[in-house]
Order: sequence, then C-alpha cells, then structure tokens
Amino acid sequence: MPLLVRPERPGDEAAIFAVTRDAFAGAEHSSGTEQLIVDALRGRGALAVSEVAELEGSVVGHVAISPVTIIPVDGRRTPGAQGWYGLGPVSVRPDHQGTGIGTALVTQALAAIDTAMGCVVLGDPGYYGRFGFRPDPRLVLPGVPAEYFQVLRLAAREIPQGTVGYDPAFDVEAVD
Ligand SMILES: CC(C)(COP(=O)(O)OP(=O)(O)OC[C@H]1O[C@@H](n2cnc3c(N)ncnc32)[C@H](O)[C@@H]1OP(=O)(O)O)[C@@H](O)C(=O)NCCC(=O)NCCS
Repeated sequence: MPLLVRPERPGDEAAIFAVTRDAFAGAEHSSGTEQLIVDALRGRGALAVSEVAELEGSVVGHVAISPVTIIPVDGRRTPGAQGWYGLGPVSVRPDHQGTGIGTALVTQALAAIDTAMGCVVLGDPGYYGRFGFRPDPRLVLPGVPAEYFQVLRLAAREIPQGTVGYDPAFDVEAVD
C-alpha cells in the first residue's frame, strides 16, 4: 500500500500524539514536550497545517505548521511581516525513519502554505536545506545558534528583519 499524506482529521489526535512522542524519544535537541506542543497548538486553533503520513492504515508521521510573529528590531512595523509561519514539529515513527516519509510530509506541508510570505524552521541545516531553507541574518530566534534557525522565502518579495516568536503553545511544560 503506498504512502498517503493527508490532512489531519478528527480521531487522529491520539495517533499523532504517539508518533510525535516516539519520534522525539531518542532525538537530539528534544524538549520532550513536542507531542504536548502539537496538542496545545490544536487547542489554540494555531495548527495552520497538520498533515499525517499514513501507511497501511496507520499514522507513521506528522508535520505541523503554525503562524509566527516577527517583531521588528527598531520597533517599527515591518512591511511584509504578516503571513509568516513556522515549520515543526516534524515526526516520523523511529522504525520508518530514513525512508522518505519526512521529505513527503515537509514537501506537502510547504505546498499548503505556498501563498504565504515565508516559513522558518529550527532544525538541522543538513536536513532542511534540501527544501530551500537557509539561515538568514535578518530573522533571529533568540537563544539558538544562528545556523540552526533557517528561513524559506515564499511569496515575500523581501525577508523582513526582526525577532521571530513562535506560538505560546511552544512554551508548554511537561507534567510528571
Ligand atoms: C527528522 C525526521 C522528521 C526526518 O524524517 P525521515 O522520514 O527520517 O527523513 P527522510 O527519509 O525523508 O530523509 C532522509 C534523509 O534525511 C537525513 N536525516 C534524517 N534525519 C536527519 C536529521 N535529524 N538531521 C539531518 N539529516 C537527517 C537522512 O540522513 C537522509 O539523508 P539522505 O537523503 O541524504 O540519505 C525524522 O527522522 C524524525 O522524526 N526524527 C526525530 C524527530 C526530529 O528530530 N524531528 C525534526 C526536528 S522538528
């Protein structure tokens, strides 16, 4: 049965939670809260894109995209600063990693926002570079190494300058 990448639908929540938790369980740079972040984004109505990868009826991967804010460095409104998004978390079940599922998910998620201004991602440049993401000094995410924070320009004529803020869902804390 071929891989199906499709939008999340009601009833997928638990499978998405499990896939995200399991994907990040052994991942470097994991906060351990990625599955909670996806739930919190959904709860806040901030899951602009939520696609699942389905193989033989099982959810084996998931990708989320949510809106980000850009706060101009000089405090003035930056033209074109609306319509920016953040990619992630991206998750593929450990036993299915390295088989192209992540690539299919990211490609489809980016296609879903192709009329947006652009997208940012925090992640390995060796992976996200293949989708056109590049570090750019104009957009900054405080507290992370610049090479890991990358930008993909879509409809924007120019990349605005400023500090990027993710949805408050990303600040969710784990409860024991
Ligand atoms: C990162 C992840 C989503 C990629 O999905 P995937 O289905 O395994 O990746 P694909 O099969 O589409 O692509 C495989 C390629 O990506 C590379 N790759 C996979 N994970 C990578 C990572 N963390 N860093 C750099 N490269 C990576 C592989 O080496 C391979 O490269 P090649 O095509 O040159 O051989 C998946 O491995 C995963 O869920 N990892 C754990 C969670 C995570 O780190 N998510 C990303 C942060 S938001």
